[in-house]
Amino acid sequence: MSVTRSRIVGCGAYLPERRVTNHELAGRLDTSDEWIRTRTGIGQRHIAAEGEKTSDLATAASRDALTNAGMSPDDIDLIVLATATPDLTFPASATQVQANLGIAHGCAFDVHAVCTGFIYALAVADNFVRVGQSRGALVVGAETFSRILDWNDRGTCVLFGDGGGAVVLTPGEGEGDSGDRGILSTHLHADGRQRDMLYVDGGPSTTQLAGHLRMEGRDVFRHAVVNLAEAVDEALGANGLEGRNVDWLVPHQANRRIIDAIARKLELPPEKVVMTIDRHANTSAASIPLALSEAVHDGKIRRNQLVLLEAMGGGFTWGSAMVRW
Ligand code: ACO
Repeated sequence: MSVTRSRIVGCGAYLPERRVTNHELAGRLDTSDEWIRTRTGIGQRHIAAEGEKTSDLATAASRDALTNAGMSPDDIDLIVLATATPDLTFPASATQVQANLGIAHGCAFDVHAVCTGFIYALAVADNFVRVGQSRGALVVGAETFSRILDWNDRGTCVLFGDGGGAVVLTPGEGEGDSGDRGILSTHLHADGRQRDMLYVDGGPSTTQLAGHLRMEGRDVFRHAVVNLAEAVDEALGANGLEGRNVDWLVPHQANRRIIDAIARKLELPPEKVVMTIDRHANTSAASIPLALSEAVHDGKIRRNQLVLLEAMGGGFTWGSAMVRW
C-alpha cells in the first residue's frame, strides 16, 4: 500500500558567534561553573549579537537546511516558525524569514508553544504535507531568550541560550520499507492550569513591554519528568514499539537530569541520546532542530533509524514525534 508521510529531507542550524561560559557568568553573578554543571549539565551558551534578531537566526538555519536538502527557496510553500521571542509583536517573524529567503508564494506563520514549539510546528507542518496542502515545508525553531532574561536572577539566566534550527519536510510516497520512512506520529498536549510556573511577566496587552522570564524551577522539573515520561509512553504505544526499539532520543535540551531520567525510563544507554545542552544550554524551540542537525551531520542518525523527539515547556505544553529517518 502506498503511504504518504512527511519526510525530513534536510536539517540546518545556526548559533550566534558569541559564547558565554559559566565562568564568565560567575564573574558577574553569585554562581559557579560547578553549580550550573551539576544542576543542569550546561557549560556554555551562545548569545545573539546586538541587532541580531530571531528571524536572522531562523533565516540562517533555514538556508543551511535548504542546502542540505538540495532544495531552493522556490520549492518552499509553507514556513512554520516556532518561537516565543518574535522580532515584533506582529507581523509573524516567519514572514520576515520568508522575505529574507526571497519567497513570495505560499504561507508563513509563527507557532508559539515555548520549549515545545518545534514539536507543535512539526505536527502542524506534517498535517499540511500529508493532506497535500504543502509540497515543501520549512519548520524552524529560533529564539533569542537572552532578550527576555532577568540577568540579575541567577535561578533563570544561567539556563538559557540563543540559536536557530530548521528542517525541510516533503511528501514521501512509496511501498514497504521506503513507505515507512518519515514522521510516524505526533502527539501534542497542553494544560493551561500550570501556566504560572513558567511565564514572562510582560506582553503587548498587559504591560506593553516584553517582560522577563519567571520560573518555579523545582515545580517545572517535577512536572517535566512526569509529563515527558507519559509522552514517550504515548509515542511508543501509538506505534506498537518499545523503548529498546528507539535508535535515537533527541530531547528538548532543558536540563541534563531531566533527559537522563527519560533515557532511563526508555532503557536507552547514554550513547543513544543526543545531548547538546553542555554547549547550547536551553534554546527553547530551537533546541531539538539544533540537536537533530548536529546528530545528522555527525553521521549518528542514519536512514531507516527510529528517532524519538520530545519536549515540554511553558503553558505547560508538551509532546512527542516519532520519526523513521
Ligand atoms: N548558582 C548558584 N546557586 C543557585 C543558582 C545559581 N545559578 N540558582 C539557584 N541557586 C540556589 C538557590 O538560591 C537555592 O539556594 P538556597 O538553598 O540558599 O535557597 C539553591 O541554589 C537551590 O535552588 P533550587 O531552585 O531548589 O535548585 P534546584 O536543585 O531545583 O535546581 C534548577 C534549580 C536547575 C532551575 C532546576 O530546578 C531545574 O532545572 N528545573 C527545571 C527548569 C527548566 O528546565 N526550565 C526550562 C524551561 S521548561 C523546560 O524546558 C522543561
